[in-house]
Amino acid sequence: MKTTAVILAAGQGTRMRSNLPKVLHPLLGKPMLWYALKTARQVTGSAPVVVIGHEADSVRKFIGDQAKVVVQETQLGTGHAVQQVEELLRGHSDQVLVIAADMPLLSPETLQDLINAHASRMSAETPITMLTTQSLDPRGFGRVVRDQSGRVVAIVEEAQATPEQLAIRELGTSVYCFSANWLWETLSRIPLSPKGEYYLTDLIGIAVSENLSVQAITARDSREAIGINTRVHLAEAETALRRRINEDWMLKGVTIIDPQNTYIEPDADIGPDTVIWPNTFLQGATQVGAGCTVGPNSIIRDTRIGDHCEIFASVVEKAVIEDNVDIGPFAHLRRGAHLAKGVHMGNFGEVKNSYLGPGTKMGHFSYVGDTTTGSNVNIGAGTITCNYDGQKKHPTEIGEGAFIGSDTMLVAPVKIGAGARTGAGAVVTKDVPSHALSVGMPARVIRKLEKSD
Ligand code: UD1
Ligand code: CA
Repeated sequence: MKTTAVILAAGQGTRMRSNLPKVLHPLLGKPMLWYALKTARQVTGSAPVVVIGHEADSVRKFIGDQAKVVVQETQLGTGHAVQQVEELLRGHSDQVLVIAADMPLLSPETLQDLINAHASRMSAETPITMLTTQSLDPRGFGRVVRDQSGRVVAIVEEAQATPEQLAIRELGTSVYCFSANWLWETLSRIPLSPKGEYYLTDLIGIAVSENLSVQAITARDSREAIGINTRVHLAEAETALRRRINEDWMLKGVTIIDPQNTYIEPDADIGPDTVIWPNTFLQGATQVGAGCTVGPNSIIRDTRIGDHCEIFASVVEKAVIEDNVDIGPFAHLRRGAHLAKGVHMGNFGEVKNSYLGPGTKMGHFSYVGDTTTGSNVNIGAGTITCNYDGQKKHPTEIGEGAFIGSDTMLVAPVKIGAGARTGAGAVVTKDVPSHALSVGMPARVIRKLEKSD
């Protein structure tokens, strides 16, 4: 039994009042459409088909090769949107799963329930299985009308509903599993609505009028059916998604002190016994190891962090942090920063495109850029690698066990040998040999160091 998913994403999303197409509005760092694409692929095992239309170019660009794309030139309604995929899918699929891109919280489990329920009843008599939800806040959803024996007879759009129908709390979600042949035969029979659109929801009434039955199942959790039409809904969906992700990590052994104020994006990964303090953001493809403490007030983006690290009130982007590193408060790691095992970096430090060797210490307000250090280097307070001459960036190398005195300016390109020292306030413009002491401005070597220095 082959099921293909169709994602409806052609609408303008007028109620967002935005220049950005609705389906590209981000939710925890990913465009809304990303969630539908992911879930659809998960349950059907193959690439979905996305119907695009409004701002088709930018939506197509985001989709790339994640799905097949069909363009609905004019947006004449959800029924018309599904009609656009007939040519592509007719004869290639037994069941068609239809979901809307503006319902990103649908879980693969609920969609699997829907597909299974339809497959188990798959017969000429039941061409539609639809997903419904119960809610006190109908927020514009179509109402599910049932007859006295409880059979579904229609979905009535809010604009067309009578006062009695408006009071119905069972709502249509716009998520369906259809028998493909019946769908292709019937789409062209949808009547034009008073608003000049072809509503997919009218298929229910058509099926019933032909003495066919419509099966309805409910979503596992009503929050899955949060549909996004406005930015108020967007915030509501983000809150629900955040909560879902955070609960998932807590059940996997991560302590989250204040889940409402912890922002973990869907691609992040966290090891057990890590503790996350409030107002922390784990963004992009961030990985945090086991037994770490992160936050409060930290932003970690596209970064790999090893085990037993402490990241305290810091901003870390595109960096690699090995085991047993502690940074912060107020550390800033930028692109290409790599802190080896056991590095300590205190307050007001910035590291960019640099490797700090194992056990290196950089305790107080320093800038290190385009630099490689050996192990156990001490970088004194106020050290600056002057890596930019106004035109080009230049590298700095610091050998194992070197001691950089407070307020040293390392004017790159420059090399400090292993075990060398610089005096406080040195402006180093020339390489310092290993085991030598260099002081002054510009710094000059004044003596060779004894082992005991
Ligand atoms: C739709 C349903 C409603 C349901 C609600 C759940 C219809 C007629 N109404 O209403 O019963 O309760 O979803 O969220 O189906 N789209 C297209 N082409 C179009 C029109 C829409 O691709 O011509 C897409 C939109 O991009 C969107 C989805 O279909 O992703 C739903 O459209 P929207 O206008 O948001 O429908 P609702 O008013 O929410
Ligand atoms: Ca909608």
